[in-house]
Amino acid sequence: MQLTGPNPIMNELTQKELDEVFARLGAQAEDNIRESKVKPMDPVLNLSHPDFFEQYVKNVNWKPLQNHGLEQLHNKFNLETNDQDWPGQINAYLDLLVDINLDGAKILDVGSGWGRGVDVLKRYYNVGVDGVDINKDFVEYAKTNYPNNNYFTSAELKDYNILLFMDSMHVMFEPKLFHSIAPDTLLVVSDFFTPDTYEQFKNMINIEKFNCLLEKDNTEAVMKAMTRDLDTLKTRFNSIEPHIVSTFKHVQLNRLHQFEIGHSKQYKFVIQT
Ligand SMILES: C[S@@+](CC[C@H](N)C(=O)[O-])C[C@H]1O[C@@H](n2cnc3c(N)ncnc32)[C@H](O)[C@@H]1O
Repeated sequence: MQLTGPNPIMNELTQKELDEVFARLGAQAEDNIRESKVKPMDPVLNLSHPDFFEQYVKNVNWKPLQNHGLEQLHNKFNLETNDQDWPGQINAYLDLLVDINLDGAKILDVGSGWGRGVDVLKRYYNVGVDGVDINKDFVEYAKTNYPNNNYFTSAELKDYNILLFMDSMHVMFEPKLFHSIAPDTLLVVSDFFTPDTYEQFKNMINIEKFNCLLEKDNTEAVMKAMTRDLDTLKTRFNSIEPHIVSTFKHVQLNRLHQFEIGHSKQYKFVIQT
């Protein structure tokens, strides 16, 4: 099955509007950001936006991930030195496979973004993991940075028996997605849900008669990780241009604010098809 189609969560801004948003965010003083309560604004401005990638990731000397992070909940892994730059986001990936039987696992990271999650899981769990993402520039970037791994712009879902949806739950709503999945596939999902999307998601699971093996509210652990991440960004990346760090911070602060006001919650689901 080719994973294509519009991302329903992402509205389109014109280039001019987007440039204005970035210019406005980048211009704000770094030190004022944490203090000023960020309003729920600019919903289009998220880390998946192609322009964010172009301006703040592609040619920048850092390797961020696009998820919200997760506070360390277990001591199963000590992060390697090279992975201590984005500890919350890497831990969020590692948490996906905790307590999952990996014998014979063929894993696909659906919405693998900038590719680091695939690399992390392969290295720490010593399992086969491929990535698929609709954005061909992300896939190219992932291939260049992690040449030992497979990243695709389309994939046969039925070739895999564990599908990961790390902050890419919306892909599950694509028409006919479930028709291309093999029986007894494990779906591991971690994402933020509004009350509406939570209900739609649960309905979908019920309609498909899937078996929900785990449902966990991780909101608090995600908020802790995000707060730590944001508070330490400047020191962790003091060689990166301040307006780049600042823009990243703004995007994530906006997301954190959605959690703080109770607008959304982060859940993890493990589902057997
Ligand atoms: C929030 S990002 C998460 C990326 C990555 N999982 C991470 O945590 O760093 C969501 C990703 O899903 C991708 N995506 C959106 N719609 C998709 C689709 N239909 N098929 C595959 N990937 C898709 C986006 O391009 C984006 O890279």
